[in-house]
Amino acid sequence: MVFDYIDGGSGAERTMAANRDAFGDITFRPRMGEPPASISLKTTVLGQELNSPLLFAPCGLMGTMHPAAEAGTVRVAESRGTIAAISSYSSKSLEHIAAASNATKWFQLYFLGGRAGAMSLVERAEAAGYGAIVLTLDTNVPASRERDTRNKVVFPLALNFTTITRFGPMSIVRPRWLWRFMRAGMPFHVANVVDAPSLAEVNTHASIFNSPPAWGDVEWIRQRFTGNVVVKGILTAADALRAVDVGADAIIVSNHGGRQLDGAPATLRALPEVVDAVAGRAEVYMDGGVRHGSDIAKAMALGARAVFIGRPYLYGLALAGDAGVAAVHDVLTAQLTETMHLLGCDDVRKLDASWLW
Ligand SMILES: Cc1cc2nc3c(=O)[nH]c(=O)nc-3n(C[C@H](O)[C@H](O)[C@H](O)COP(=O)(O)O)c2cc1C
Repeated sequence: MVFDYIDGGSGAERTMAANRDAFGDITFRPRMGEPPASISLKTTVLGQELNSPLLFAPCGLMGTMHPAAEAGTVRVAESRGTIAAISSYSSKSLEHIAAASNATKWFQLYFLGGRAGAMSLVERAEAAGYGAIVLTLDTNVPASRERDTRNKVVFPLALNFTTITRFGPMSIVRPRWLWRFMRAGMPFHVANVVDAPSLAEVNTHASIFNSPPAWGDVEWIRQRFTGNVVVKGILTAADALRAVDVGADAIIVSNHGGRQLDGAPATLRALPEVVDAVAGRAEVYMDGGVRHGSDIAKAMALGARAVFIGRPYLYGLALAGDAGVAAVHDVLTAQLTETMHLLGCDDVRKLDASWLW
């Protein structure tokens, strides 16, 4: 059930597949006879210099995958000179994760406990040193993820009689996972909900669907948070302009990895429209379907300043903790370097549409 939770998408998983397929439809326009002496993958994101344009997307419930979870991911972000965004649904508290490394961390905000709960999360994130709030707007209701339904996964998870009887049999046949999970204290719960007295209350507070954020809430957070505000889940020019109007510093073109509206367009296809509309007034990043270093080059050539990965680093995490996350990052950046050599382009910041067929 953990694998399906990572690997699956919503509905018929068409949008999830479209995200990946879109990269296959784009071809390069390489330049011969000018072999680069060296390649620079460096870029800046909201004023901060990064060693590579590859960032880690916010993902929930990472403690079910491997005990290293979010802390391991921010350690790898630090060692690789990049940024990890941490989900509101993290397995450890945002303060615990902040203390795990000196990397810049961003906090992805869901409205756990309505506006008041959101405000308390924003204040805690600010106090813990998170540099940006990433506000996800594509999650008005929980989308049906058929694989989770089949596995009887109902969020938020809690460790109780029902879950033990549901997941016990499938855990027994995964003894190594079960051992790691038990030693880690069975991190099923939503660790950022600290002010709810009982499990039932935690579940109510943890429900993000009582008051999903609207544009007024983005503005409201913009006025209260002194760091950067990043809006995640934008797919159209019209919404990108609203994000700019309410003061977003950056936009992530995203369809939640095909986990929310099935039938939403592939993010690579939506990207140029958003980049054009924003016209440099905010930074634009993208995520969804990035599975090879050359995909990063394609997204950057279409105007993304940086890209995020979700599932790829979760697969690495689940297999091997910190080392797995680092390996995925290193494989993708090595592939990006090779792509740049073969393109004849020495700097990712020079990528634009002239490098595409
Ligand atoms: C297991 C899993 C959990 C996720 N949880 C969150 C979350 O809590 N908040 C959020 O904004 N996005 C979440 N996402 C979406 C990712 O941030 C990102 O948009 C997506 O994974 C990118 O697509 P990719 O997996 O194809 O790289 C999740 C994705 C996965 C795979």
